Amino acid sequence: MKPGQKSREIINRDSKVISALTRPYELVVDHADGSTVFDIEGKSYIDFASGVAVMNIGYNCKKVKEAVCVQMEKMVHCGFSDFYAEMPVKLAEKLCKMTGYEKVFLSNSGAEAVEAAMKLAFWYSKRNSMVAFYRAFHGRTLGALSLTGSKIRHKENFPSLRVVHSHYAYCYRCPLNLDYPGCGISCARELERTIFKRVLSPRDTAAIVVEPIQGEGGFIVPPPEFHKEIRRICDENNILLIADEIQSGGFRTGKFMALENFDVRADIVCMSKSIGGGIPLGATLSTSEIMDWPAGAHANTFGGNLLASAGGLATLDFMESKKLGEKAVEKGNYLMKQLNDFREKYPAIGDVRGIGLMIGIEIVKENKESDAEKRDLIIKKSLEGGLILLPAGDSVIRFVPPLIISKYEIDNGLQIFENALLNNSGI
Ligand SMILES: Cc1ncc(COP(=O)(O)O)c(C=O)c1O
Repeated sequence: MKPGQKSREIINRDSKVISALTRPYELVVDHADGSTVFDIEGKSYIDFASGVAVMNIGYNCKKVKEAVCVQMEKMVHCGFSDFYAEMPVKLAEKLCKMTGYEKVFLSNSGAEAVEAAMKLAFWYSKRNSMVAFYRAFHGRTLGALSLTGSKIRHKENFPSLRVVHSHYAYCYRCPLNLDYPGCGISCARELERTIFKRVLSPRDTAAIVVEPIQGEGGFIVPPPEFHKEIRRICDENNILLIADEIQSGGFRTGKFMALENFDVRADIVCMSKSIGGGIPLGATLSTSEIMDWPAGAHANTFGGNLLASAGGLATLDFMESKKLGEKAVEKGNYLMKQLNDFREKYPAIGDVRGIGLMIGIEIVKENKESDAEKRDLIIKKSLEGGLILLPAGDSVIRFVPPLIISKYEIDNGLQIFENALLNNSGI
């Protein structure tokens, strides 16, 4: 995509002062409404990425805007680590009501929610190591990065806590070359068969950290038994189960927490992204018993920030009142069906998978090898056509539109996507 003059100028200025970010797409946004983003040149885009699964409630939500403005008039920040205020308490009460957990630690991002969960698990268990999964993504701060196993370049040059990685249930490319269901969920059992016998003692393992559906690693949906097996292994070894719901939570899969789809309950849950409605917000939740750590064991400056709490509370209210969980299932089924039809027509689409509106398609070569180049081209062509898509994993395109998206917008987005597929020679 050739950026216009205004966009080019901002991109040039950005490159002089902004550090570390990749940004392969030259899209300079200006404003957004519902499921549509407008760039600085005035061109509109249907958004199938939701700012990385953040804008579940859609852009420009009136209820959230009002709640934040009312709070802004009263007070922006109170120093919640030192003083009391009602708004963060209301938010925590709401989160507890929606999840059944009893205590909350509030923060500002996904990685922070994960760091709090890690510290809590280390503190509670008095153990020193953790287990996570290949292709997992839990964030870029050093603790969370130790858990992350998605791309090796994320980890280059950085020291790590003791985390051992094991197989996730990636059935499309089974790491053990087995077939479900005959496999007996061998990937989960590797923990007992190998890891806990030869690599890491379960007695040193504070927690197993898992994404209900792997996000950045490639939108990988495990079969129904996988999480139950992990839960059993945790229970038998007195290990805490930490669910990272940062991308999968917030009704994206129909349920408020995606692990509910698997009838499994974690001991500690990390949430962020969509629960703030676009305002930075993280939350780590657990039981009163586990979260009975002493005052001062963990703290931050902005956790419980009044604006973020008001925005978060209004977001959760909006999600519930608009039944976004039901919408995610309904629209997700519709989108999944269309994508499966595309898979029949276009051999470049090797796999379509997801729950609700957390859907990924895997772009492959004829021999089923991952085709990252083609994937990147399709995303770029879609962007030129007016559709925002983002990659995940080795060659996956993720479809995570706002949960308020209309069928009409899904159809328009898919039309652009299909044109991008067709314009991509060799598909
Ligand atoms: C599952 C998961 N955990 C943690 C994170 C990190 O969140 P943040 O980027 O807000 O630190 C992400 C971000 O994509 C994520 O998808």
